[in-house]
Amino acid sequence: MAASSLCLIGCLALWILTGAALAEDLVVAKLDRRVDLTSQVARTLVSFKIENSGSDPATKFLFALSKDQFDHLAYISAASVSVKGKSRTQSAPLTVKEVEKKEDPSSDAVYFEISLEKSLEQGQAATIDVQYALTHTLTPFPREIRQSETQLVLYHDSAYVLSPYLVKFQTTFFKLPGSRVESYTKVEPTKLGDKEIKYGPYENVSPLSQAPVTLQFENNRPFAVVETLEQEIEISHWGNVYATENYHLKHTGARLKGGFSRLDYQAKGNGVSAFRYLAAILPPRAHSIYYRDEIGNISTSHVRNEPKRTIVEFEPRYPLFGGWQVKFTLGYSVPLQDFVFLAPDGSRYLNFTFGSPLVDVVVEKITTKVVLPEGSRDPSVEAPLALDEQHQEVKHSYLDTVGRKVVVLTKKNVVAEHNVPFQVKYKFNPLAMLAEPLMLIFGFFCFFLACMAYLHFDFPISKSSAAYQARLQQEEVLDLLQRFQKLMKRRLFEAEKLEAALRDLARTGDVAPCKASKKLVDATLSKEVKAIHEALQATSRSSSVNSKVEALITKEKEKHERLLQKLNLTVDLYERKMSSKEIDSRLAPHEQKYTHLKSEVAELMDSLDD
Ligand SMILES: *[C@@H]1O[C@H](CO)[C@@H](O)[C@H](O)[C@H]1NC(C)=O
Ligand SMILES: *[C@@H]1O[C@H](CO)[C@@H](O)[C@H](O)[C@H]1NC(C)=O
Repeated sequence: MAASSLCLIGCLALWILTGAALAEDLVVAKLDRRVDLTSQVARTLVSFKIENSGSDPATKFLFALSKDQFDHLAYISAASVSVKGKSRTQSAPLTVKEVEKKEDPSSDAVYFEISLEKSLEQGQAATIDVQYALTHTLTPFPREIRQSETQLVLYHDSAYVLSPYLVKFQTTFFKLPGSRVESYTKVEPTKLGDKEIKYGPYENVSPLSQAPVTLQFENNRPFAVVETLEQEIEISHWGNVYATENYHLKHTGARLKGGFSRLDYQAKGNGVSAFRYLAAILPPRAHSIYYRDEIGNISTSHVRNEPKRTIVEFEPRYPLFGGWQVKFTLGYSVPLQDFVFLAPDGSRYLNFTFGSPLVDVVVEKITTKVVLPEGSRDPSVEAPLALDEQHQEVKHSYLDTVGRKVVVLTKKNVVAEHNVPFQVKYKFNPLAMLAEPLMLIFGFFCFFLACMAYLHFDFPISKSSAAYQARLQQEEVLDLLQRFQKLMKRRLFEAEKLEAALRDLARTGDVAPCKASKKLVDATLSKEVKAIHEALQATSRSSSVNSKVEALITKEKEKHERLLQKLNLTVDLYERKMSSKEIDSRLAPHEQKYTHLKSEVAELMDSLDD
């Protein structure tokens, strides 16, 4: 009586817990568990064949983990499987929900409620796969090793799968990285195979039974743990998405004791559990990839572009042994059109892979910051994984006016299974994209205005500028003109002296001084005039100046020749002892022409001054 009422209370408690058909009605007809211990993460796949032995339809199935395993749980998922002959196909993931611990102090089980795809009627069976990953459950033992030693690890589990249901038939396989096994607990039947230990089959194991086992085996896989990863994904609508990842990475395997010998490492290959290289799998078409540590850029990295991914291998400055750590930054860019899309409702969304692109690492804490373009509004996140925290910030960078919205996501205990696409949706007005270029254009406009003002005020300006060149030229022209005017004045002065000699002749009738005055004519003057004329033609672009100069030269030459003619004629007439009346009438036309030419030259000389 007491036992049955206890059972009733227990059943009631479980019924309240699951809110569904009595869980006890389910039995596990067959169970197959495979635990992969070949890396630093323990990955388990349990395949349950469940049957409904009760009369009510079952819609839920409870899965249990021990408290200890739960504390190391990084990832869990479930799927229903359709079995046809030997082929198995998994359905879309089923919802897995952690439910409150049953009030049973003797049990340290943590329960997960898995919603079945369709309810299980009386006598029906279904197959369900549960996958989970545990981190930090493979512990190096011994904890410290020498460089020449290999790394051994301990792993604790139970030979029986923890189950709230009766398990009629079950088998477990532990897959190991190598064939060296130091020790393992026997729960008969137990069989050690090549790189594998088989526990079972066990029949009719009652609910919540456990049979602890401990395995110790060799595992030299790099225990690369990223203590913190700060990732920034910046969207630029001008064509790229920029990713910057700051890592603090530690080797959490057995600690190195007795010092490190590079010689032994390189020559003898000692240090099998150390790691030399790190690899990252980036999206296809990733570019501008860089890797740098606290000291600077590191060029010893290899990039391989494949159609579906980009593989980057890089080498820290020194190999990493147990307990050693390194900080570095990995950066890359990807084309915008591969990651940012337009949603049907007109908003935009980033579709990016969560987690670290580093291969074979455990990330203890990741902080992902998605920096949206300036002017973005109403960001929202859709992620098919449980995030620990999510908030928003504002980031200011140069050219920003109001700052950029930043979506911050954090999660602890991240493994490769979390590398799934997540989306950040945001509203964006394309006009906002014009804000920065408009600012730039406005800036340039102001700059040009300033330049114009600068020229206008005639400040000293650059020697290469067109304005400067033009001014140089103008100065040269002015200089040439001045020299030209000086030459012309000398010529006119000469002419005045000849005229004076002619006047003297008319007064005295003495031919000799007038003849001698011809020597005053400087022949080099016309050569100099010619040279300046040529220089002016080469320099000055002003046709009005050139034509004035040309006209002046021609007229002056004509005037000069006319004067010499007049002088020769006058001398001749006086030598022939002609009457002064005769002489005056003979000279009169020359006199007239010369006076006319003289006034023309004077006029041209004046016009040059303008
Ligand atoms: C590091 O390398 C990246 C990419 O090659 C380059 O853009 C950056 O200027 C380099 N930095 C230094 C400090 O050399
Ligand atoms: C995000 O990208 C992945 C491939 O990287 C694709 O399978 C998935 O459908 C995309 N999600 C959305 C919402 O576009």
